[in-house]
Amino acid sequence: MSKKIIIGNWKMNPLTLKEAEKLFSGIAKEISSIKKTEVVICPSFLYLEKLKKIRTSKIKLGAQNAFWGEVGAFTGEVSGEMLYNIGVQYVILGHSERRALGESSNDVNKKIKASLEAGLIPILCVGENIRDESHNYFNFVKTEIEECLMGVSKNSISKIIIAYEPIWAISSTPNRKDATPADCLEMVIFIRKIISDKFRKEAYRTKIIYGGSVNEKDAKEFLKNGGVDGLLPGRASLDVKKFIEIIKICEVLN
Ligand code: PGA
Repeated sequence: MSKKIIIGNWKMNPLTLKEAEKLFSGIAKEISSIKKTEVVICPSFLYLEKLKKIRTSKIKLGAQNAFWGEVGAFTGEVSGEMLYNIGVQYVILGHSERRALGESSNDVNKKIKASLEAGLIPILCVGENIRDESHNYFNFVKTEIEECLMGVSKNSISKIIIAYEPIWAISSTPNRKDATPADCLEMVIFIRKIISDKFRKEAYRTKIIYGGSVNEKDAKEFLKNGGVDGLLPGRASLDVKKFIEIIKICEVLN
């Protein structure tokens, strides 16, 4: 069985490199005995190279975005190839905070294909704004997945991680609500069906994970009853103690 995965999304935090190094080293120090859990940290682009130099075999690095062009006249962009070349292995794509700034599923689709081409593992984020009573949120997530995975080959689907992140549960959403493992499970089953219909048995190994204010208190329930292969904490990944606890919970359950 493949390992469960815990991915920390640091977003635009912390403010200084020094703090980033302290946080990263603090986590690295505490997880030397972890064997059954894949741990990934996704810091700001700026910190990637420095953190790469902190020796640990237990933490893989991920970026929070990657452009679809390989190299050339794209002012302000960073390509998947560039990230791969400095030792990055994962990349978060289509996060709702980027979509809110104007990124479309078409953009995400191009980024997924380019990232795969560059040798990165894309972490595709999908999730609805609200849970309406007529259950339109299922269609919303279905459309996001179909648009973002358009033209992705059967051979590549098992390399992609799909993160279900309901926007209404993310810590940065005003008046957010807690999602439950049951909310998560029904969507994970639905997502598994969408990708299985499209990619057949090649989709069985695709990891589906959950993110949305997950923390050390509810991680166990999501991992046990949410039907997921891992978690994508944001805020809780900025706290050494909380993040380590989530990893340890996962390790015990694995
Ligand atoms: P959160 O972030 O855990 O702070 O809600 C998760 C995410 O947005 O990836």
